[in-house]
Amino acid sequence: MEKLLIKGGNSLSGKISCSGAKNAALPMIASTILSNESVVLKNLPYLQDITTMFELLGSMGAEILLDENMDFTISSFDLKDIQARYELVKTMRASILVLGPLVAKYGKARIALPGGCAIGSRPVNYHLDALKQLGAKIKLKNGYIEASANKLVGSNIRFDGVTVTGTENIMMAATLAQGVTVLTNVAKEPEIIDLADMLNSMGADIKGAGTDEITIKGVNELFGTSFTIPADRIEAGTYLVAAAVTNGSITIDSINPNRLMKVINMIERSGPKISFDDNSISISMDKDRPDPVDITTAPFPEFPTDMQAQFSVINAISRGVSNIYETVFENRFMHILELNRMGCDIEVKGNHAIIKGVESIYGAEVMATDLRASASLILAGLCAKGETVVDRIYHIDRGYERIEEKLNYLGANIVRLPS
Ligand code: UD1
Repeated sequence: MEKLLIKGGNSLSGKISCSGAKNAALPMIASTILSNESVVLKNLPYLQDITTMFELLGSMGAEILLDENMDFTISSFDLKDIQARYELVKTMRASILVLGPLVAKYGKARIALPGGCAIGSRPVNYHLDALKQLGAKIKLKNGYIEASANKLVGSNIRFDGVTVTGTENIMMAATLAQGVTVLTNVAKEPEIIDLADMLNSMGADIKGAGTDEITIKGVNELFGTSFTIPADRIEAGTYLVAAAVTNGSITIDSINPNRLMKVINMIERSGPKISFDDNSISISMDKDRPDPVDITTAPFPEFPTDMQAQFSVINAISRGVSNIYETVFENRFMHILELNRMGCDIEVKGNHAIIKGVESIYGAEVMATDLRASASLILAGLCAKGETVVDRIYHIDRGYERIEEKLNYLGANIVRLPS
């Protein structure tokens, strides 16, 4: 298994660009199933999760072509097989995103039930309950979700809990339902708006994405489009933390700061100066150590759970005590044990981490457990004294495009060690 060797202590400086957002791209790729024509996607990030989504569509009979501009043309309009097998679903839970489109377009789907994962049980009951309310029949058999419907019918649906991929799944399904669907208690993440924009460009009629209520008027068919994946707000937030913990001064290009305003505010509170315009963010950390900042994760526009592990590194080296409350996922503190092995002083009590800032942390051999945990270990390695080796970095390759290349460009010293 490949590892990353990080020699800590370098201050980051310079300018980098954000890649396309994984969490915007995955539902967009799934949404091509709804179209009667080919769809072109631009600025797709080169990531393992994107490859897995392509593998999944390919296994169902979709044709995917890459041109010289690195744009992908996806033809998913004539699928032969409408199932997502366990081999693929177990490696990426977001495979569930093909459920809504398949039932809406083909009247049936067979999707392996995603199991547990490193950050908690992550059930899909909200997706299934909402799909039932659109008229689908759902059976669970041999570890698979078997869904069928002659024609989905619009309905008023209130989600029992806020779910990002659940909102996306049902929004996609409702585009081809008969009549009007009104979704409430929905997720408001920027990626929901991105998906609605793309679906509308394919001929859908969706209003209210990004607000508390989404209204979808069903249409008979959807058509091809050409759509550019917006930049990854979590990648941008991760590089902001990298600058904050290395006393760095960097600019991140091609990112709309409104997508991560809460993250910007909280990082700013810890000491760095941050400025931004419509399309870039600059950060400069002059203080020798950050101030501690309490954070509580919650759905957008609150502090994202996907930035919790990274932010904990700021607190770990801060001048004081801070609290992090993780309210979105159970068991999302796997990085803490590894951080403590690097000299951090963090105690976990259920969904609450109490962090006592320490003056210095030290390099160690550590193990990545999930995508964002891996990012936090790399950030810790950047500000630690000595060498850190992060094992199981296949997690990081699922969600960060060329992370060591980008960080090295800013002055870090990271080497990818072969298996
Ligand atoms: C998405 C993101 C992930 C992010 C998460 C929360 C993608 C591909 N992934 O994941 O990066 O960390 O949002 O911002 O966009 N839940 C249920 N039943 C359900 C669905 C969810 O109980 O049917 C619970 C989950 O266990 C979790 C909470 O709801 O506690 C939120 O999960 P959800 O928003 O669905 O996360 P994902 O969409 O899987």
